[in-house]
Amino acid sequence: MKAIVIGNGGREHALAWSLLRSPNINGVFCIPGNGGTATLANCQNVAMSVSDFDGIARFALVQGAGLVIIGPEAPLAAGLADRLKSEGIPVFGPTQDGAQIESSKAWAKALMAEAGVPTAASQSFTADRKDDAIAYVRQMGSPIVVKADGLAAGKGVVVAASENEAIAAIETIFSGKFGAAGETIVIEEFLTGQEVSVLALTDGETVIPLLPAQDHKQIGEGDTGANTGGMGVYAPTPLLSSEQLDRVQREILQPTVNAFKARGIDFCGVLYAGLMVAEDGTPKVLEFNCRFGDPETQAVLPLLETPLDRVLLACVQKRLAQLDPLVWSDGVSVCVVLASGGYPDDYEKGQPISGIDMAEAQDAVVFHAGTEIKRGELRTSGGRVLGVTSVADNFEAAIAKTYAAVESVHFEGCYYRRDIGYRIR
Ligand code: AMP
Ligand code: GLY
Repeated sequence: MKAIVIGNGGREHALAWSLLRSPNINGVFCIPGNGGTATLANCQNVAMSVSDFDGIARFALVQGAGLVIIGPEAPLAAGLADRLKSEGIPVFGPTQDGAQIESSKAWAKALMAEAGVPTAASQSFTADRKDDAIAYVRQMGSPIVVKADGLAAGKGVVVAASENEAIAAIETIFSGKFGAAGETIVIEEFLTGQEVSVLALTDGETVIPLLPAQDHKQIGEGDTGANTGGMGVYAPTPLLSSEQLDRVQREILQPTVNAFKARGIDFCGVLYAGLMVAEDGTPKVLEFNCRFGDPETQAVLPLLETPLDRVLLACVQKRLAQLDPLVWSDGVSVCVVLASGGYPDDYEKGQPISGIDMAEAQDAVVFHAGTEIKRGELRTSGGRVLGVTSVADNFEAAIAKTYAAVESVHFEGCYYRRDIGYRIR
């Protein structure tokens, strides 16, 4: 079977790589892919925009693709899955109505309230109610969290230490800086604890969590500085025991899937719960995403022994309840992201990259994110450039193995955090 992966990040490279480990997959197309998917055996990049719905549908039909996986949130929120489904193409990823769980934080909060899912107390405000928003901040006190409602590439959330900072954030978001994404804001209670990502697969009825992972979202070591897409991750994180994962399934994932159903939404894809786990072990939802996490996918999929296509097709064909339990390797994995110097602010592109072969010779997998091949040479083309992952018997060994491989890779201005996994060391 041939599969198509939509997107060009580390997540999409990991999806293509994982699919190609399956005996059922004899080829993967990435639209548009990156420098890593261009050189992966049996994988081919297709130069097409993720917003070219007509082109993607035509290509999938001509190739007879048995499975199309949509990686990023933007095409999901724009209705790519709806379009492909309407042509009878087997697509893994929610339709536009389901993608609202990520594309509108106010919508997600309302769904959670309806489903009784534990999350931070909050209220939503449209721009014409700015004074009420400010009054809510005064009433709740600080610290407090202010979020732009829509997709803002991770930049729409302000964890405010003071009421004044929160009010400044309200002004900024309503100033139009985020366009339509900032027409509504959600103001919510500040939660403390450990952040854990649970990516779960669902066919709209049954929901199966993958191994829990912990991402490191901030640019600086010790979780300091600006938020990024994610600077490194490890799995399975012991910060969520299997009993707690069962609780997440019971109290968060299944009620959310049931709430989709109650609204008439047929959600097929990843329900990604970004959780805050309090000191007493209580998990609460910080946010939901409607797609695989990045870099989480780069650490979780290398541990999955069940062929990925088998699981995703069970979702597409609505028979997840009949699937045998997922088989996981006994090992653990650690992924360190190598970024362009300056990221998440301005950074240079076009730097030549070397040493990937050496890293891979040390039993690491190097997933590409912001890379491209230009005139036969691999160069940087984005903020997050590579994700170096390795699997070992324990975290100490996996961390050592990953960082040894990272040191083999070079490009001008390369930056990475040296403390991935520090919260469990
Ligand atoms: P989000 O995009 O909603 O996940 O928010 C981005 C980051 O902001 C999260 O990963 C958390 O680190 C932080 N954050 C979001 N909401 C809260 C909250 N209610 N309490 C504390 N931190 C939060
Ligand atoms: N790693 C965070 C995300 O995928 O949203």
